[in-house]
Amino acid sequence: MLSIQDIHTYYGDSYILQGVSLELQPGQVVALLGRNGVGKTTLARSIMGLTPASRGRILFGDQDITRASAHRIARLGIGYVPQGRQVFRSLNIREHLQVTARGNGQWTPDKILDLFPNLRSRIKSLAGKLSGGEQQMLAAARALVGNPALLLMDEPTEGLAPMMIRELGKTIASLKEGGASILLIEQQLNFALRYADIVFIMNKGRIVHRCTPAELLADPDTKARYLGV
Ligand SMILES: Nc1ncnc2c1ncn2[C@@H]1O[C@H](COP(=O)(O)OP(=O)(O)O)[C@@H](O)[C@H]1O
Ligand SMILES: [Mg+2]
Repeated sequence: MLSIQDIHTYYGDSYILQGVSLELQPGQVVALLGRNGVGKTTLARSIMGLTPASRGRILFGDQDITRASAHRIARLGIGYVPQGRQVFRSLNIREHLQVTARGNGQWTPDKILDLFPNLRSRIKSLAGKLSGGEQQMLAAARALVGNPALLLMDEPTEGLAPMMIRELGKTIASLKEGGASILLIEQQLNFALRYADIVFIMNKGRIVHRCTPAELLADPDTKARYLGV
C-alpha cells in the first residue's frame, strides 16, 4: 500500500533522510520509532509532500507520489495527524468535521463522533479551548473524516495524560479492528508495541532495525541503543 524506496530528504543544506526504505501492507499498523531528532517527522513530511524527497521513490498503491503536491497526496487518501496536532483554534469541533469532510466512505461525522464520545459531548467547543488530549482526538477525527485509506499519525501521545493515552489507544485498537492501515510514529515504546504489527526503528536519518513487537520486547540491546530505554 505504501512503499518508500531509498528516499533522501534535505532541509536546505541539511541532509536529513539518508536513504530510508519502508513498506506498509494494507491493514497493517506499522510503528516507526526512534529518538528525538532522528528524522521521523521529516519522513512524515516527505510522505505528505510537505518536504519532498530529492532522491528515491514513494509509491502509494500504484501511484508515484514522490513529488506530488501535498494537496494531491491528501486527495489520494493519506490522512495526516501532524505532530503537535495543529487544530484550528477558532473552529469548534463540528466545524472541523464539516470543513474537512470528503468522499462518501465509511467515516461520516456522525460515525466519527461515535468513535470519540468526548468530542461529541463538546461539539460546540472551540478547538483552542480543548485539553491537549481532546485536541489530539480532534486531530485524528479531522483526518478520518477525509476517509483516508492510510492514516499517518505523528506522535499522537505526546504531552497527553495517561488517561487520554488510554482513550487514544482504544480508538487505535478499534480502527485496527476495522481494518485500517496506520503508520504510527511514536516515542512511547509500550504504546506503539501494543498496536503495531511491525516495527521500524530510525536513527540519524536511516532505518536501522526492522522487527516484530515481540522481537523488540525481547531485545534489550536494540532498545537501549536506539530508544534509550
Ligand atoms: N524546518 C527545518 N529546517 C531545518 N532543519 C530541520 C527542520 N525541521 C527539522 N529539522 C532537523 O531535522 C532533523 C530531524 O528532525 P525531525 O524529523 O523533526 O525528527 P524527529 O521527528 O525524529 O524528532 C533534526 O536534526 C532537526 O533539527
Ligand atoms: Mg517528530
